[in-house]
Amino acid sequence: MGVQFGIIGCGNISRFHFEGIEKCGGAVALIVDVNRAAAEPWVNRTGAKFSNDYRKVMEDPEVQVVSILTGAKSHKEMCLAAIEAGKHVVCEKTMTNSVEEGFEVVQASRKKGLFFTAFMKRFFPAVDKMKELLPDIGTVFQGTVRTFQQWGNFYAGEGLGDFSAVVDTYGGAVLKCAGSHMLDLIAYLMGRPDSVYCHIDYVPETRFDRKVSAVFSYKRGTSVLFEAAAHPLKKIGYERNSWDEFFEITGTDGRLTLYTVKWDVPEGNAPLLLYYDNRTEAVTEFRFDPVNPFDLEIAAIAEAVREGKQLGPGVIDGFNVDAMISSMEESHRQGRMVLIDYMGIQG
Ligand SMILES: NC(=O)c1ccc[n+]([C@@H]2O[C@H](COP(=O)([O-])OP(=O)(O)OC[C@H]3O[C@@H](n4cnc5c(N)ncnc54)[C@H](O)[C@@H]3O)[C@@H](O)[C@H]2O)c1
Repeated sequence: MGVQFGIIGCGNISRFHFEGIEKCGGAVALIVDVNRAAAEPWVNRTGAKFSNDYRKVMEDPEVQVVSILTGAKSHKEMCLAAIEAGKHVVCEKTMTNSVEEGFEVVQASRKKGLFFTAFMKRFFPAVDKMKELLPDIGTVFQGTVRTFQQWGNFYAGEGLGDFSAVVDTYGGAVLKCAGSHMLDLIAYLMGRPDSVYCHIDYVPETRFDRKVSAVFSYKRGTSVLFEAAAHPLKKIGYERNSWDEFFEITGTDGRLTLYTVKWDVPEGNAPLLLYYDNRTEAVTEFRFDPVNPFDLEIAAIAEAVREGKQLGPGVIDGFNVDAMISSMEESHRQGRMVLIDYMGIQG
């Protein structure tokens, strides 16, 4: 019998988790959603039990891993309950809604089961290659990140329309939905930044952040420029399909540039990695077969659970992003650069 999951939340993201579990030979013991209709197709497909109360997952002896796939506002409560029940946890990003909530989850998870924060972009082979090549670009002195996603035109007086529930579900808009993955990659590839200056552009009279600009800096002098935006442009980006996301890291011996692909159709194209080597003056294009990073992530988690081994991104990685976002918001409120408050948690 494969690893047994309990799934909480059957919305947009759940398809990738259910399919990933199926493909790696795992099983779903119990499915929870407050909306039975959302769960129904998956209950039928997997033969799992159903409940509308997430606490049932914690009590179910068959469930080894609890996958928390609801909006971020319920993540802290569900993470704490799963940890308390002795379950391993997979928590969708963002891990929680603030650095304080993240701190509670970190403290609770110490010496308990395994904890995975589902930043699936780390599982793209192009990201592995980028990490592998980083030492070859010498002393890193600069990074640039852009994540622009085609959500619509929120700049010309148009209302939020279908997007009005986004802040409630995700705890924020473009920063938490699009930006958080790239913040995780900043911490993963360049280390946790020490300070940030951030400006957040909200749709007037809402908490819907439509554009976020930030400069992260490190005590060693390195900096990262970060831009996240919702936009209306249909054909921009590497795939010319509106998805406009890249991460470029420059060092004294070269440069690495990663172009990612649209999150919900990852089988279309693979991310592209460009490597410029200043010693040979050659540019190498690394092209990969398209893969679904969710499948790789869930297979890796299932294997880690079987072997009882922690695998990144874990609870600290989830916390780091929560801390970076909270300090970005604080910097915006204060209108100045702030030290990122990691609340004494070691990276
Ligand atoms: N990795 C990615 O690229 C990616 C993409 C999209 C969403 N996400 C993340 O996945 C999570 C869910 O997002 P989504 O778009 O699937 O949300 P969604 O609103 O589509 O789905 C959430 C589901 O959870 C259910 N739910 C809500 N509260 C519940 C509760 N207390 N108990 C049981 N069920 C409850 C809802 O009925 C709904 O079916 C979020 O954290 C989001 O940031 C990640």
